[in-house]
Amino acid sequence: TPLSHIRNFSIVAHIDHGKSTLADRLIQSTNTVADRDMKEQMLDSMDIERERGITIKAQTVRINYTAQNGEEYVLNLIDTPGHVDFAYEVSRSMRAVEGSLLVVDSTQGVEAQTLANVYHAIDADHEIVPVLNKIDLPASDCDRVAEQIEDVIGIDASGAIRVSAKTGQGITETLESIVQNLPAPKGTRDAPLKAMLVDSWYDSYLGVIVLVRIMDGVLKKGDRIRMLSNNSTHHVDRIGVFRPAMTVIDELGPGEIGFLTASIKQVRDTRVGDTITHEKKGTEDALPGFKPSQPVVFCGLFPVDSAEFEDLRDAIEKLALNDASFSYEMETSAALGFGFRCGFLGLLHLEVIRDRIEREYDIELITTAPSVIYHIHMRDGTMHELHNPADMPDLTLVDHLEEPRIKATILVPDDYLGDVLKLCQDRRGIQLDLTYAGSRAMVVYDLPLNEVVFDFYDRLKSVTKGYASFDYAMIGYRQDNLVKMQVLVNDEPVDALSTMVHRDRAEARGRAMVEKLKDLIPRHMFKIPIQAAIGGKVIARETLSAMRKDVTAKCYGGDATRKRKLLDKQKAGKKKMRQFGKVDIPQEAFISALKMD
Ligand code: GTP
Repeated sequence: TPLSHIRNFSIVAHIDHGKSTLADRLIQSTNTVADRDMKEQMLDSMDIERERGITIKAQTVRINYTAQNGEEYVLNLIDTPGHVDFAYEVSRSMRAVEGSLLVVDSTQGVEAQTLANVYHAIDADHEIVPVLNKIDLPASDCDRVAEQIEDVIGIDASGAIRVSAKTGQGITETLESIVQNLPAPKGTRDAPLKAMLVDSWYDSYLGVIVLVRIMDGVLKKGDRIRMLSNNSTHHVDRIGVFRPAMTVIDELGPGEIGFLTASIKQVRDTRVGDTITHEKKGTEDALPGFKPSQPVVFCGLFPVDSAEFEDLRDAIEKLALNDASFSYEMETSAALGFGFRCGFLGLLHLEVIRDRIEREYDIELITTAPSVIYHIHMRDGTMHELHNPADMPDLTLVDHLEEPRIKATILVPDDYLGDVLKLCQDRRGIQLDLTYAGSRAMVVYDLPLNEVVFDFYDRLKSVTKGYASFDYAMIGYRQDNLVKMQVLVNDEPVDALSTMVHRDRAEARGRAMVEKLKDLIPRHMFKIPIQAAIGGKVIARETLSAMRKDVTAKCYGGDATRKRKLLDKQKAGKKKMRQFGKVDIPQEAFISALKMD
């Protein structure tokens, strides 16, 4: 296909504004798939994604479209992940295309993720076509939303296309606008091969599948290629495109988007944003902006049943093969036994991996408190990264600590603004900006990431009855007065409950934690002190009083099978608990105790 007849684009939207439905419509109306093969939500492939209504892995589809001018066009749609955890992947896939459809639900208006994603598109110099979706609904108000797009985003929305992805209204206009308003890609066929690695994933039949955008040159089956980031070389054994089913073709030229397979065993060996060239006569000139994505949130994953440790190892290794941004190493905890310290791109990423281990591998897990990476500046001038509060060095050796901060953008209806400001303030936020767009306020806060990783998003949702939207970006490290708070149960420190907290909040946090633990830990035959401490100093304390009677006492003299049954029942209940010294702590305590109300 000549460059002039190619259009590459992505769709940017807030969750639920109709990105997948619109993509399905575009595919369907161009007969890219026969109707009977059309499953709902063609682009979201994993069950978890479908269930949670989020798109995690970028996918792509090639559409052939005969425009009203009679010419044949190739339209390549890249589906980008919609969640903040995957900001780097979004920004990379945006660099692989020249334009975006900006989809806004005309019954809702602009939301935080609309903004975050459209900024990625603007950064990538995209031509942007605004699309107002869901015009079939009575609450649709296109004029208001168009005005809001102009006010808040600052792009011309007077020609916004009015669409119902549900009924198909406006779909032809959308296709025509893609052809007319989005620029054709540029590139040189005779230049050395330069391709961007946009995404990769594991397929059980084909091995690792690599999604590429060709910038210059031509990629053919049988070529020997080299990845610029690590100089690894591979033999290309298959090239193709997604229509959306995989279709093998002979070559990919400049401006085209497609996949290659090259007997690559692990997704880890392919880095999003990397430059691919030919082994011989290749380019040395890497595409700008490549950085391997780094985990920002860490937590420990331990099997509830310690006999399942090997199964957990197996599950984690398998998941990691297919997810280069998920890291892990073995961890032993005095209390929890053998497990893994795992790194994630964010909380959603953590939840997805944890859910998959529990559901696909059927292993019950204890998840320890999520922690961010602190920078510890030692007296001797060196700096260490702290991934686990349990590894905090001796305080006398430490000069100061720095924590990661984020810039959070929150959009919220006026009525809830007060609650949102209070929440941000409570989490040590610094207000950077507050503006209005119609009846909605946009607040921008500088917040410590550690105050956000746990339950900030849940709290935000609950104080605003679900009306607020939220997005964030990392802004760097800053020094603050941070300390490690330990929890002692029956005088034994429970490492898995150690957290880093701000000194000024330690008492309140410690008190809340011990109170919660008192409710969560069942009574034992003896009295159990529960304490929060900093260094050697106890800052909060509760005592769980002893149980009066043995549960089996009432069976004394009774029949032995009944007593047996009772004990068995207790044993089964215990599986969900872990022993700490002499005390059993139930699994839910680890998460619940850390939630801040
Ligand atoms: P994520 O994949 O979670 O980012 O969401 P999305 O933006 O892809 O939204 P999706 O296409 O899943 O649509 C969200 C909901 O809106 C679904 O229940 C759709 O059926 C519905 N929807 C999408 N477009 C329209 C429309 O034009 N009209 C109406 N009435 N409903 C729509």
